[in-house]
Amino acid sequence: METLVNDRLLQDSNTRESNVSTPTPSTSTEFIDTVKSRQPRRSINVSGPVQPYHARLKNFWYPVAFSADLKDDTMVPIDCFEEPWVIFRGKDGKPGCVQNTCAHRACPLHLGSINEGRIQCPYHGWEYSTDGKCKKMPSTRLLNVKIRALPCFEQEGMIWIWPGDDPPAANLPSLLPPSGFQIHAEIVMELPVEHGLLLDNLLDLAHAPFTHTSTFAKGWSVPSLVKFLTPASGLQGYWDPYPIDMEFRPPCMVLSTIGISKPGKLEGQNTRECSTHLHQLHVCLPSSRQKTRLLYRMSLDFAPVLKHVPFIQYLWRHFAEKVLNEDLRLVLGQQERMLNGANVWNWPVSYDKLGVRYRLWRDAVEQGSKRLPFEKSA
Ligand code: FES
Ligand SMILES: [Fe+2]
Repeated sequence: METLVNDRLLQDSNTRESNVSTPTPSTSTEFIDTVKSRQPRRSINVSGPVQPYHARLKNFWYPVAFSADLKDDTMVPIDCFEEPWVIFRGKDGKPGCVQNTCAHRACPLHLGSINEGRIQCPYHGWEYSTDGKCKKMPSTRLLNVKIRALPCFEQEGMIWIWPGDDPPAANLPSLLPPSGFQIHAEIVMELPVEHGLLLDNLLDLAHAPFTHTSTFAKGWSVPSLVKFLTPASGLQGYWDPYPIDMEFRPPCMVLSTIGISKPGKLEGQNTRECSTHLHQLHVCLPSSRQKTRLLYRMSLDFAPVLKHVPFIQYLWRHFAEKVLNEDLRLVLGQQERMLNGANVWNWPVSYDKLGVRYRLWRDAVEQGSKRLPFEKSA
C-alpha cells in the first residue's frame, strides 16, 4: 500500500526530524486514506520562497561548462549561487574562473574580449589573468588590484569550479559514460527554475506517460505499479518496469542509462537485456534561487555514424528542448505554487524514492551532518 511505502521512505534512519512534518490532512479523501493506513503520514517540507543557499552546499566541485564551448578567445559567463562569474582560458590554455565584475567600475567583464590569455574589460581596458590579478591598466599607473577567482579545472571535456570556502577536494568525479559509449550531443540551457525542482523532476520517471506524451513516452501505457529499486547504493538503482538505470550524483547531477531499440522506444525488462542504450548526463547548476544552468550530455553505444550526419546537432537540441519544455511548464507551475507556500513534497509515494533521497541528502549537507545519508561506503 502506498502509504506504508511512503512512511518507510520517510522514516529512513537518515530522516531528520526538523525537516519532516506530520501535516494535518486537509481534505476528506486524504483523511480517509490516512485512517486506512493507520500510520501517521509524514512529508518533507519544501515550501515558500527558496532560502539563501547554505555555504556547505558550495563545498563541492561543480561542472559549469563543456570544454568544447570554451575556445581560446571566448568567454563563458555563468551565474553560480547567485554570483556572476566568467570562465576563460589563460595563455597556457588552462581555464580560469573570475568574478564577472570589473574592480574599477563594476562593468561585466564578459562584454569585453580575451587578449593573450587575459580578460580585458570593455570599459577602460583593465586586463585580468585567470588568477584574478589585474595585469594591465591602460592610461594610468598599474596598481595592485585583484578580483576574486575560484579554483577551476578541466577534466574529461568539462570545466569545473569550486565555489565553496573550504579547500577544494583533491579529486574530481568522472561523469563520462561507460566504455562503449560515444558522446553525440552536449547542450547547455538556462532555465527559469530553482535547481532542486529540476532535480526532483529529472529523478522521477513515473511522470513520463502523463507528461511526455508528444515525445519519448508517446503511446506508453501506464503501469499498475512503478518502483525504483536500489540494489547498489542508496542514490543509484533502476526503474521497474522500465529498462532504465538512474543515479543521483552529488551535488547536482543525474546519470541515466536507457535500454532502447531505436531512440524514443523502450525495449526489454531491464537495461542488461537491451542491446542498445542511450546514456544521459544532466547537470543542474544552481545559478540563482530561480535559475538553473542545465548541462546535458547524450551518448549512445550504437550508430556511431550518426555523429557525422550533417546538422544532427540541431536535431538533438530540438528534441532535448521539446522534452524539457514538456516538463518545464509543470515545474514552473510547481515553483509558482511553492513560492506561495505550497509544499512540493507534500505527499511522496513509492516511485518518489530517489527524489526524496536527494532532498534528504541536501538537508543533511545544509545541516552539517558528519555522515551524509546514502553515501557509498568507502
Ligand atoms: S570598469 Fe573596467 S576598466 Fe573601467
Ligand atoms: Fe520529464
